[in-house]
Amino acid sequence: MPPPQPDALADALIRVPRHEFIPPRAWAVPQGVGTPPAAASGYWIDQHRDPDRWWRAVYSDSVIVTQLDGGRTELTPANAAAPSTAPSCAASSPLLVTAGLRHLAVRPGDRVLDVGGGTGWTSGLCAYLAGDDALVTAVEIDPGLAGTAAENLARCGLRPSIVTGDAATELPAPHDHSDDLFDRVHVTCGVTHIPYAWVERTRPGGHIVLPYNPPIGRLLRLTVHEDGSATGRFGEECSYMPLRSGDGTTVSGQETANADTDPRVRSLDSDPESLLAPAPGLQVLLASLVGDEPWVSGSGSVLLTDGVSRATVEDSGRLTQTGPRDLWDEAESVHRAWTRQGRPGLDRIGFTVTPQRQYVWVDDPAVPAVSAVRALDEAADNATTVGASLG
Ligand SMILES: C[S@@+](CC[C@H](N)C(=O)[O-])C[C@H]1O[C@@H](n2cnc3c(N)ncnc32)[C@H](O)[C@@H]1O
Repeated sequence: MPPPQPDALADALIRVPRHEFIPPRAWAVPQGVGTPPAAASGYWIDQHRDPDRWWRAVYSDSVIVTQLDGGRTELTPANAAAPSTAPSCAASSPLLVTAGLRHLAVRPGDRVLDVGGGTGWTSGLCAYLAGDDALVTAVEIDPGLAGTAAENLARCGLRPSIVTGDAATELPAPHDHSDDLFDRVHVTCGVTHIPYAWVERTRPGGHIVLPYNPPIGRLLRLTVHEDGSATGRFGEECSYMPLRSGDGTTVSGQETANADTDPRVRSLDSDPESLLAPAPGLQVLLASLVGDEPWVSGSGSVLLTDGVSRATVEDSGRLTQTGPRDLWDEAESVHRAWTRQGRPGLDRIGFTVTPQRQYVWVDDPAVPAVSAVRALDEAADNATTVGASLG
């Protein structure tokens, strides 16, 4: 199959125009690649009352929220801005959509699965790129949204199959019933654990592009291999609304519990800056191995937290660690290992999915980064011991 023309995506954006997928009244949240959507920073758009504002929002890099709380809360300006509500459907940031579709590289004739049909916009773009809407199948958990997506797509003359279902647990067959496999899987809801079925149902050599949600918070492009594994690398920063289950809860790979322990306090001997504003490669390692990125709280405190344990560093250099894990010590050990490995960037860091496990790696897709960090730590401990006995 010939590769797509370089401007195929530009054509798709014209032929499947975003405005056909945006309702007359919605909540626009301005973005830039890398800026997590903060619903409260948005504004109301009403096509009838203020058409200019509506059009400007639709053709800017804004996430346009079209549903709150799985439809249980009415979409109004007050509800959309309220911290107690959560967006559950949106037309995603155009810059991230185009970045994701470039990574996906849909070729004419590809069978595409679009997970999280939403407004139908990305399913329409995939249908245009594949050259035939019969090749595209979208899965959307919310039947009302699936119906609206089908109507939006029909206005563009497109009729891909929109299936109502939970893409985490049940995947439809390709629309044309060729076989069970897709060439491309495009995901537009955030995940922190990849359902293995997505790999199983992708043809070897095919790609899966998904938003890996915070703490990693980056697009991930995987290639599926003959042995049933998938490997790939991280791209642009992103934060998507999470994959949800039928009962509206968020699907997460992590469990949390409360566990208070006595605080361990000591003074810090290194500058916390490299952990506070980590380089992209270190950020991915810290996020995957420690479980959170450092962030600043109040005046002068740096926090690391995994929801149970917590490390706080004050301006004075005083470090307090609570909970079952010494998160700061773990972060320092990752930083040391990253430095010893030559400060790898995103070109040396990737992700592997197998039926049994999924993990971040450095240089070698077969070795989880956690093992590499442990090995480097042990080597450093041995070197210190040998050095001490020689001295
Ligand atoms: C960011 S929106 C998708 C944007 C969409 N691609 C578009 O172009 O409008 C995420 C969508 O994923 C859907 N979703 C969330 N969890 C899902 C699941 N488990 N299975 C299928 N769809 C899901 C949500 O209902 C929501 O419509």
